[in-house]
Amino acid sequence: MRGVVLAGGSGSRLLPLTKVTNKHLLPVWNKPMIYYPLETLRGMGITEILIVTGGDSSGDFLKLLGNGNEFGIKLYYAYQEGEGGIADALKLAEGFVDDSKYDSKFIVMLGDNIIRGSLLSFASNFKCQPSGAKILLKEVNDPSRFGVANITNGIITDIIEKPKDPISPYAVTGIYGYDRSVFDFIKTLKPSERGELEITDVNRYYMQQGKLTYEIWEDFWSDAGTFESLALASKYIKELYNG
Ligand code: DAU
Repeated sequence: MRGVVLAGGSGSRLLPLTKVTNKHLLPVWNKPMIYYPLETLRGMGITEILIVTGGDSSGDFLKLLGNGNEFGIKLYYAYQEGEGGIADALKLAEGFVDDSKYDSKFIVMLGDNIIRGSLLSFASNFKCQPSGAKILLKEVNDPSRFGVANITNGIITDIIEKPKDPISPYAVTGIYGYDRSVFDFIKTLKPSERGELEITDVNRYYMQQGKLTYEIWEDFWSDAGTFESLALASKYIKELYNG
């Protein structure tokens, strides 16, 4: 399978850190944030990866990562105009996915997600799934910051983006498996109240089709898109390396 890292958006929750650079180039302990999703995808056996980025510092991704040789991967780039949301960034991957000689299913990772451990079995389980989508859930203390999935009898029955009163502790992490029908659905999507094409609407579409599977992640996972979560992720990685 091919992989996609979404690294656009304005990073406004991290201002002024993101005033002159892209959020995904900021350090998480001793490496730029974007290294972590790339390493996670490589750990899934994925070596052809599209980075979707945007804004004024998009050229810096090329300076930092080049063609991916140094990391043992092959990198491709796409540019998102504006900050129209996660699904808006994802739609730029259509040609890249259709070009793949391997599989029309693919894995997406948000560029600010940091995970410890291997997602190889997540990828291979998704590969065996005939069609549809797969998401990774994590039990968290502060679900209202995330998309939240409600599970009844082992089936996802609802997903709500940043609910005030969360219906469960299961955050939808930024690691998704999709088949290529995702692109047809995104073309029909309308922006949410905050003006974005929401990935939660994409996942709800698959849920309504009965084609959304999930796994629950027990090891460390965090986003790094707020001051608190960026500090937490840095602290965690530091302790992991230094004991
Ligand atoms: O981290 C997991 C959460 O990520 C999920 O639980 C939520 O359902 C999902 O909506 C998302 O929530 P956030 O509020 O954290 O999304 P954020 O706007 O911070 O965007 C996350 C990443 O998506 C960002 O690091 C880069 C990419 N992105 C985002 C936007 C808005 C783009 O590539 N383009 C965009 O226009």
